[in-house]
Amino acid sequence: GGPGGPVVVPGDPDGPTDPVDPEQPEPTFDQALAIPPLADSVVDEDGTRVFQLTAQAGTTSFREGVETETWGFNGDFLGPTLRARRGEQVAVEVTNTLGESTSVHWHGMHLPPEMDGGPHQEVEAGGTWRPTWLVDQPAATLWYHPHPHGRTEKHVYLGMSGMFILDDDGADAAGLPAEYGVDDIPVIVQDKSFTADGQLTLAQENGVPSGVMGEVLMVNGTIGAVQEVTTERVRLRLLNGSTLRSYNFGFDDDRSFQLVASDGGLLSAPHETNRIQLSPGERAEIVVEMEPGTATMLRSYPQRLGEIADPEGYGALDTLDVLRLEAADELAPSAVVAAQLSDEERLDEADATTTRRFVMKNLALNGQRMDMNRIDEVVTVGTTEVWEVRNDDPMPHNFHIHDVQFEVLSVDGAPPPPELSGRKDTIYTEPGHEYRLIMRFEHYANPEVPYMYHCHLLRHEDFGLMGQFVVVEPGTEPPTELPGTGHE
Ligand code: C2O
Ligand code: CU
Repeated sequence: GGPGGPVVVPGDPDGPTDPVDPEQPEPTFDQALAIPPLADSVVDEDGTRVFQLTAQAGTTSFREGVETETWGFNGDFLGPTLRARRGEQVAVEVTNTLGESTSVHWHGMHLPPEMDGGPHQEVEAGGTWRPTWLVDQPAATLWYHPHPHGRTEKHVYLGMSGMFILDDDGADAAGLPAEYGVDDIPVIVQDKSFTADGQLTLAQENGVPSGVMGEVLMVNGTIGAVQEVTTERVRLRLLNGSTLRSYNFGFDDDRSFQLVASDGGLLSAPHETNRIQLSPGERAEIVVEMEPGTATMLRSYPQRLGEIADPEGYGALDTLDVLRLEAADELAPSAVVAAQLSDEERLDEADATTTRRFVMKNLALNGQRMDMNRIDEVVTVGTTEVWEVRNDDPMPHNFHIHDVQFEVLSVDGAPPPPELSGRKDTIYTEPGHEYRLIMRFEHYANPEVPYMYHCHLLRHEDFGLMGQFVVVEPGTEPPTELPGTGHE
C-alpha cells in the first residue's frame, strides 16, 4: 500500500495459495464433536513418562465426499492430547515424516531452552528429536505446535497442533468437571479458507493484510459441531488455535458461565461473566451449567480490538456460531465449583530488578525484526522482571513469552480486569494500549540457546515480529551473536 496504507505481510511462498471459494455451505451443528484422543505414554525404568509424536501428511474429510490435504501429529489433522502431572519427568519422541523440517514447541511450558522446540530446535525431514523435562508448574491447559523459522503459520494452519494438559493435586480438589471427553472438553477453535476443490488455502482474498481470516470455523477439526452434555456442569478448555482471528466467546442465550482458568492455570477464584475474548494462542477454561433437555450455542461475538484501522477485515464485527451444546434429558450431578481455586503466590513488583520495554510498531519489535543470530535480551536466572509492552501499530497484535507464565500488573496504568488476573503466557495488545507484565525466570540458564517472545498472529511472527532472549547465570556475559544457524 501507499503511505498510510496497509502493509501487506507476505506469507510463506511455499504455502498453499490457490483462490478462496467464499461460497461455503452453512454449518448444520449436527456433527458430533471430534475429541482428540489422549496420547498413550509409557513410564520407562527411570520413571520418565514417554510420549511419541509423529508429524505426518495425510487427508481429512471435513465435509462428506471432499478429501482435503492436511498435516497432523499421529494422524491426519491436529494431534493427540498429551497429559502429565506436576512433578513428572516427561519425554516426547518426535519423528518428522514431512518433506520439510518442522519443530514442536510446548507453548506455556516452563522448561530448558534446548527442549523448547522453537526455531533453534528444528527437526529435519526424516529426523527425530527427544526433548525431556520436569513438569514443574501448576495444572493448566497448554498446547503444542510447530515453530519453524518463517513457516509457523503454514504448519499450524495445515493442522499441526494439540493440547498439553497438566494436572496437579490443587486442581483435582477444585470441584471442576474432570472426565476428559465427557464433562471436560477440549475446544480447539480454528478458522480456515477452502478452495473450490476443497483444499486449504493461505490466500489473502478478503483484504486482510495480516493473513487468513477464514470463512469456515471448526472445533477440533469438526465443522458445525455438537457436543452432547450428560452432566449438570461441563468444563470447556477453550484454545484459540487460529493463525490470525480472535474470538469473543459467549452463548447465544447470553447465559453467564464461570471463568476458572487462563493460559497458565486456575484463577484464584472463579469469575462469573458472559464473555471471554481470546486472541491466537490464548486459552481459557470455563464451566457452563446446563438444564436437562436444553441446548445452547457457543458463539463468537463482535470483539474489543481497540483502535484498529480495519475492524471488518480483522473479523472484529463478526458473529459466528462455534459449538452447539445439547443437554440430555437427565443429567448426572456435578460438584459445585470451589469458591477458591488456587492459592499460588503472586509476584511482587518490589522484587523486580529489571524493567524492559517492548514497542510493536511497523510490524517490528523495538524497531527490529527477528534475526536468528542476534540475542536481543539477556536475563539473569532467578530474577523477577517487569516487561512493558505497547502496540503502536493500527492493527491487532498480541505478545507471547516462552518459558514463563507472567502476571498482568496493569493495563494503561489501571489494575487488570478479572480475566487477566491469573497466570498468562500470551496477552492481546490493543493498538495504542500499554501492558505491564511481571515474571520470574527460574531454573534454566543457557547462554547459547535463546527463548522467543513474539506476536502470536502467526504471519506477523513469521514476518519477524519476534525477538530472542537468553537466560544466564549471574555474572555471565553471553555473546550478543549466536553461532551460525544456517538461517538468514
Ligand atoms: Cu505458541 Cu512462540 O509460540
Ligand atoms: Cu502481530
